[in-house]
Parts: sequence; C-alpha cells; structure tokens
Amino acid sequence: MSSRRLLLAANWKMNPPPASALQAAMGDHSANPYHPHSDIDVVVFPTFLDLHKTVAAGLVSGGQYGRPENAGAYSGDISMAMLKTAGCRYVLCGHSERRENHNESDADVAAQAVAGLEQKIHPIICIGETLEERDKGHAESVVKKQLNALPLESDITIAYEPVWAIGTGKTASAAQAQGMHAFIRSLLPKDRQEKTRILYGGSVKADNAEELLSQPDIDGALIGGASLRPEEFGEIVKAGEKITQK
Ligand code: 13P
Repeated sequence: MSSRRLLLAANWKMNPPPASALQAAMGDHSANPYHPHSDIDVVVFPTFLDLHKTVAAGLVSGGQYGRPENAGAYSGDISMAMLKTAGCRYVLCGHSERRENHNESDADVAAQAVAGLEQKIHPIICIGETLEERDKGHAESVVKKQLNALPLESDITIAYEPVWAIGTGKTASAAQAQGMHAFIRSLLPKDRQEKTRILYGGSVKADNAEELLSQPDIDGALIGGASLRPEEFGEIVKAGEKITQK
C-alpha cells in the first residue's frame, strides 16, 4: 500500500453543481460524498460562477482553469490569484477539453501549473493521448512529451486522462491504466516518484472504480459524468474508502 493519500476529484465541467452537494452535511461530514472525508481527499471543480457556493458550503474546491497573469486585459479569463482569493485550493491545468477548445499548448499548461504553485494552489495537470495517437502506437511518446513540459520536481498531481475514454463510456482497462501510470511514474524525478499522485480519468463509474483505484500506481480519479450523480459519486467515494482502510 502506497503512502500516497487517495484523491477523488469531481470535475463538473460546464454543469451546475448537484443540489445535494451544497447541502450542509448534518453532523457527520462524510455522510455527504462531496464533503471532506477523513481518510481520502475529495475535491470539487464547479464552474467559476458556482465556486463561491461550494467554498461557502465547506467543500474543498478547485478552479477548472486559471490564467497565469494576475490581472489585465484578458477578456473571459480568470487568474490563479483570483482563484486563490475565492478560496480555491486546487486548479485543473491542461484538461484535454481546454487543450482542444482553447488551443492550450504544453507550454501554456506548464505556465498555468507554475502560476498555481506560486499562489499555493495545488495543480492537477491533465495529460493523455487521443485514439488516433494510441492506434498509431504513439500513446507513450505523446504522454512523455506532455509530461516533460511540466514542473515535475514540484508538488503537483498528474491526471492521466486518455482522450478516447472521456465521456465515451470506454474506460481504459485496469491493466492498461496501471501500465501507463507505472510508465508515467518512471519518468518522474527519482525523489518525486513515491510522492507524486497520479490520478486516472475517463469514464470512471461506480462499477469500475474499485478495480481501477486498487492498482498500485493509481492514486485517485478525476471523474466527470458520474460525479454529477450524487448516489454514484457516493459509491465511488465508498470504494476509495474501502481500499484505503484495507
Ligand atoms: P468522464 O468521467 O465523464 O469520462 O470525464 C472525465 C473527465 O474529463 C474528468 O476530467
């Protein structure tokens, strides 16, 4: 069992928070799956408009994006410094939807991660190959290139999200994911290999969470669709707690 604490991150993308997530947990905090838990880390990523609500509800919250510059003429953007002021403790960097829809390059993603670290916001940095890249046998070289652009010597979290598994219902098998996670870990600086958490993302559901989270190099999950369904997210959190308590 690794010493890395399991992290379950709910990426709500451009969707409103599930109503129950904002309800106060009566007494036992962990009765609400979105609230902080004692044995594992649970983080939610709402839209910018909903951030103040999740922070006020006591949820550990993160921004889905942050611009490195502190302020200025960047219409439509929000800075890492602003996320910090809003109470964010985490930030997603380089989600494939942003790499694709906003043309974020590896260098842009690295700059975001560095700016997040400067603001003492923990970056969760997404990497992963497309189906075309996998079919051509380039999965590992794509991931390696994305990884090498990052401040790997810092306290960051990596999220391996194969693009072909996001929102498609096609999950990487536990063996496939474990293989890629072990490869990623082998590329980290020696003194970070035991410390850096590597999350898996892409169609994580209640029925595959336990098997994925049981893999030795999978330290948590970044969950999209299933994180919007409180009962299902609750099942995933329970699977994480069960593994931790083993
Ligand atoms: P799904 O869980 O909906 O496949 O989304 C994964 C994801 O993109 C999380 O960031």
